[in-house]
Amino acid sequence: MKKEQLSFSYEVLDAFDALYEADQELFKKAREATQFAYAPYSRFYVGAAAALQNGRVITGSNQENASFPAGICAERVLLSAAASAYPGVPLLTIANSYFNKNNGKSERPLAPCGICRQSLLEYELRQQQPIRLLLGGMEGKIFIIDDAKSLLPLYFSGSDMT
Ligand code: THU
Repeated sequence: MKKEQLSFSYEVLDAFDALYEADQELFKKAREATQFAYAPYSRFYVGAAAALQNGRVITGSNQENASFPAGICAERVLLSAAASAYPGVPLLTIANSYFNKNNGKSERPLAPCGICRQSLLEYELRQQQPIRLLLGGMEGKIFIIDDAKSLLPLYFSGSDMT
């Protein structure tokens, strides 16, 4: 028997001000996008913004449904919007933020859910270049992750079916 280990490292910034200016702009757009979330059921408002290689920025927010499984997370709204508006244009960085109206808090960096990790990974494989992730809230620390792949060790992808 042999043990293997998978790990990844990421940057932790103490606050928004520590981001590069371009990342600050993107992060602000993610925070603003929380306003467009439709989240009457969870009251958890998520916003995401992507910087594309062509200089454009696309945003997304979570869109819930009375039939709960029909709801869709901000990240996947964003990916669908980007792929539809600018097909073939790589995403460089995605910023993610949120506001939890249940407790009024937004201090801890947002961790994308498992389905979104899978979708981010597929997008990254498809565009053949990494997507940087900036994860944060309305205040507090911000995590910078070099690629979507890091968030999904031992991932399943199309190459597993060939
Ligand atoms: N949600 C997102 O939009 N992104 C995440 O990364 C985590 C969760 C949404 C889904 C649902 O509308 C609400 O947040 C509560 O789970």
